[in-house]
Amino acid sequence: METILISVDNSMDNENIYKQAVDILKKGGVVSFPTETVYGLGAVATDEAAVRKIFEAKGRPSDNPLIVHIGNAEEVEKFATGITADAKKLMKAFWPGPLTLVFEMKPGQIAPNVTPGVETVGIRMPDHPVAIRLLRALGEPVAAPSANRSGKPSPTEATHVLDDLDGRIPMILDGGRTGVGVESTVLDMTTVPPTILRPGNTTQEMIEEVIGPVQNEVGEIEKAPRSPGMKYTHYAPDAPLFVIHPDGRKLEVAIQTLQSEGKKVAVVGPDEMQTDAADWYFSIGSLHNHEAMASNLYRALRQCDMTKADIILAVETDLSGVGVAVMNRLIKAADGKQYSDRTE
Ligand code: TXA
Ligand code: MG
Repeated sequence: METILISVDNSMDNENIYKQAVDILKKGGVVSFPTETVYGLGAVATDEAAVRKIFEAKGRPSDNPLIVHIGNAEEVEKFATGITADAKKLMKAFWPGPLTLVFEMKPGQIAPNVTPGVETVGIRMPDHPVAIRLLRALGEPVAAPSANRSGKPSPTEATHVLDDLDGRIPMILDGGRTGVGVESTVLDMTTVPPTILRPGNTTQEMIEEVIGPVQNEVGEIEKAPRSPGMKYTHYAPDAPLFVIHPDGRKLEVAIQTLQSEGKKVAVVGPDEMQTDAADWYFSIGSLHNHEAMASNLYRALRQCDMTKADIILAVETDLSGVGVAVMNRLIKAADGKQYSDRTE
């Protein structure tokens, strides 16, 4: 299959491009498109055969539920039940935007392979002009995971999608770099109080300001980052990645030690710790700017894959605001490994 990558620059007349994308989706195909978080790989969420193609293209295990994307907030009623007053407040405050809400599913609407093993459905309205225009032109819900090969960092640029899925999907809509850079916050509204299942740009503080206290399953993961297991199988670059404390001296010593073992070292870290000692240093923004770090993180992990690094060190962020989401992704990329615990 040939993969076409088409730019959907706002200054051009794109009518025809959206029409092509809608045609592919209506005929049961998949299309990659930008959202404000990361690029998604979409199929009509009511079409089981189309949704199967998402799992095939990504090589994704078929037991992990997909997020349903909608172009108008009111559509949530078609696919979900038990929409509480709090949920409505959150939709009003944060949609369109990087917040996925998990609801009880209305039966018989969404294809069963969108929500394998669960009776709930995760729904969000993305805040990106290309995504919204595509969804509205289509007039159907779109199931879309991130458009990476399973196990790779999520794509924040159209070329990342091409690198991973060239020849496996028919079309990529190129809307430039995504802004947020990490995937949406996932909030389970079926528990009392609601539970954050995945941290993102819509932070716990922001959510609690609207509906009061929520639970945080992520906290449990942060507290036990060393435990191995299925939780940490995503976002992995090719070379082993270790998380390291944000201490310039420790970083220099670690680089020297590794280089004396004959290893080439790539570092992903803040502007403030940039060092020539590393074989490669990918700066992702100021220590004090978590939004920038989130935005640049996945590109940096992909850049590491393009080097000859034997090992990657990623500098920890603090856990305030979007820092929680950045650390969550780093711990997953590291498979829970801390440099200070390295034994080999
Ligand atoms: O920002 C995003 O959310 C991106 C863009 C494309 O919208 N999408 C994305 O999808 O990250 P994906 O498939 O890579 O991640 C979806 C996450 C998974 O961790 C999945 O387990 C969880 O959301 N999820 C989806 N539906 C769920 C449900 N009904 N219950 C619990 N978790 C759910
Ligand atoms: Mg993903």
